[in-house]
Amino acid sequence: MNPIQPLPGFRDFLPNDCAVRNYIFQRWREVARRYGFVEWDGPVLEPTALYTKKSGAEIVGQLFNFTDKGDREVAMRPELTPTLARVVAAHDREFKKPLKWFSIPQCFRYEKQQRGRLREHFQFNADIIGEESLGADVESIALCVDLLRAFGFAASDFVVRVSDREFWIDFLRVQNVPEEKWQEVLQIIDKSEREPREKTAARLGPLAEPAFKILDGEGGSPKLDQVLAALKVRGLADFVEVDLGIVRGLAYYSGVVFEAFDRGGKLRALAGGGRYDNLIQQLSDGAVSLPAIGFAMGDVVLGELIGEIPAAKEKLQTAIAAQQNLDIYVVIAQEDRRADALANVQALRDQGHRVDYPLTPAKVGKQFQTAEQLGARVALLFGDEWPEVKVKDLRTGEQTLVAHQEVAAKVATLL
Ligand code: HAM
Repeated sequence: MNPIQPLPGFRDFLPNDCAVRNYIFQRWREVARRYGFVEWDGPVLEPTALYTKKSGAEIVGQLFNFTDKGDREVAMRPELTPTLARVVAAHDREFKKPLKWFSIPQCFRYEKQQRGRLREHFQFNADIIGEESLGADVESIALCVDLLRAFGFAASDFVVRVSDREFWIDFLRVQNVPEEKWQEVLQIIDKSEREPREKTAARLGPLAEPAFKILDGEGGSPKLDQVLAALKVRGLADFVEVDLGIVRGLAYYSGVVFEAFDRGGKLRALAGGGRYDNLIQQLSDGAVSLPAIGFAMGDVVLGELIGEIPAAKEKLQTAIAAQQNLDIYVVIAQEDRRADALANVQALRDQGHRVDYPLTPAKVGKQFQTAEQLGARVALLFGDEWPEVKVKDLRTGEQTLVAHQEVAAKVATLL
């Protein structure tokens, strides 16, 4: 009989993976709150129509969808933005604008599994709803930069490339490209960096020459100059650059768009987003119209980059050790002291210390070994010395005998 394997592209989170995941989520939450964003969430399963309506062909091709037992067409969320648009339209009157909302959904896309791309991933989303001024775009990009900085990355490790869909829409208008062709052309430009020029040229046809001129840096955008100037004032200029080659794969973007990449150019995008001023109106069939901008950062590529940048890796390891290490390990040297030891364990845990002990009898040497493996700062030895307890500082090796009623006070001086 073959043991059942996990599905391709789905991860098991062993304790260390969970520690990494928690670390990533904590940094995301911390920085989002620093920027005044509040957390929200939506359902994992949505009506398939929510995505087929406006996300674009790429996402629709990647949907994990099925018919449920009530004959409904449903899909696991591939992204959060359509849910956000639905929720905001439904609760429009309850909240003062602009909204600054963040969320950490698990998303599902039936993609070909490859480096940096799985069939499930966690995605930090931050969106500003109800603000059309460029200040919101700048705030969104600054948050993206600061999130990455919080992991210990420097300007030499990553860059946020900023572009403008409107710039390309204007270009398509000038070139007399019919509107129904726009998405297709934008997709070709989006993919152009990952494709040989000849292939892109063949697909663009007569648009190739003028489009390449733009991709090669000809033609500026006053709007993007303004965005960059505002980021410069914040001291973030080194982390961003204008790159009109970014147009984003999703169909609903309408203005400024951006993506974050590792500087080495080895990995897939760390984050991506942009302005989507029409989506809420389109998904609510015109009932509510609100401008919006936001982005999402995935945990998969981020985890890969942390592994590659020593400063970020060290930061992660220090944080995990601090999270996981025990404060106190209780060594039970004499089994007839187990009840006294457990009374102390309980009292110390009540005080908020992280305390562990052997569930079954074990050799004293072995117990001390466990104490070190678990990163305990202090060991308490319950044995022949009772009613005194031996307190050992596991960093210095220093030992003292204290009356059992004094253990908590002594331990407090060592932690
Ligand atoms: P997206 O570019 O499709 O944008 O995804 C954002 C990020 O999620 C990517 O940069 C990548 O890090 C991660 N990601 C996406 N797909 C996968 C995958 N299959 N495996 C691992 N990681 C992945 C959106 O989803 C937009 N809804 C973002 C947004 C929010 N726009 C406005 N607000």
